[in-house]
Amino acid sequence: MKKDFLKLTDLTKVEALELLKKASELKKFKAEGTTHQPLKGKSLGMVFNKNSTRTRISFEVGMFELGGHSLFLTPDQMQLGRGETIADSARVLSRYLDGILIRTFDFNEVTEFAKNASIPVINGLTDLNHPIQVLSDLFTIYEKLSRIDGVKIAYVGDGNNVAYSWISAATMFGLKLSIGCPASCKPKLHEGFKITDSVDITEDPIAAVKDADIIYTDVWVSMGQEEAPEKISLLKPYQINQSLVEAAKKDVLVMHCLPAHREMEITSEVLEGKHSIVFDQAENRLHLQKALLETLLA
Ligand code: CP
Ligand code: NVA
Repeated sequence: MKKDFLKLTDLTKVEALELLKKASELKKFKAEGTTHQPLKGKSLGMVFNKNSTRTRISFEVGMFELGGHSLFLTPDQMQLGRGETIADSARVLSRYLDGILIRTFDFNEVTEFAKNASIPVINGLTDLNHPIQVLSDLFTIYEKLSRIDGVKIAYVGDGNNVAYSWISAATMFGLKLSIGCPASCKPKLHEGFKITDSVDITEDPIAAVKDADIIYTDVWVSMGQEEAPEKISLLKPYQINQSLVEAAKKDVLVMHCLPAHREMEITSEVLEGKHSIVFDQAENRLHLQKALLETLLA
């Protein structure tokens, strides 16, 4: 039966940990120059309704390296953009492709696609969540710290789609997650979504980063949102700068899913500083996504 990846909880903890192991093996193959092409003859359609650098390119290169092929599709060039339904599009694309990646606004569009497709559907970011990013970040954390259980992540900034996926991850993996954000920027949780005791939300950025192994941030204005000056000024005390980094553990690691807006949510000094692992983090999207593609499409 086909398996989708629309949210982190579509995987069991065991399946997710298997993916991290596989990602590490695929990273090693690439470093050694070992050819590994389990997806020969397979095609991935990639529907992008929003901009992307990392997601698009890492999936495209990932498919190529696994021996497969990818197609970059934009709704405005498909009949989808002229009113063909998601259901019909999903049924037709399922006759040609072996998997579909979708980045769009409304999470319900991704679930509608998955419901009507007979091939695996992967969520490449929605307004609600960004599960592939956080799964890949768990791989990076595991690679750097050799553990995930009990790691303290301080997510400081806007309570957006990435923050939402971190809340899922904390519940699933036994992370300690502290979200530091202004009251009006708290993550919006959809009905039935449960926050466990391992997650706390505070308006104090210093309290959020106390004893943190990882400080994580993301843009203050996500794609599709209006740049509201009031929101930016509310978020200013939540900037990841040197003094906030010094309030965490001595060897804290700094992560950002990128793209970054330097001197807004993070200073250049921190992004380029010795605690930052953001470019290793970006690279790991490729390895983790290859592991997911092989698992779902082979
Ligand atoms: N982090 C991330 O998903 O980046 P892109 O928007 O460039 O894909
Ligand atoms: N929260 C950001 C993530 C970009 C990868 C956005 O949705 O624009």
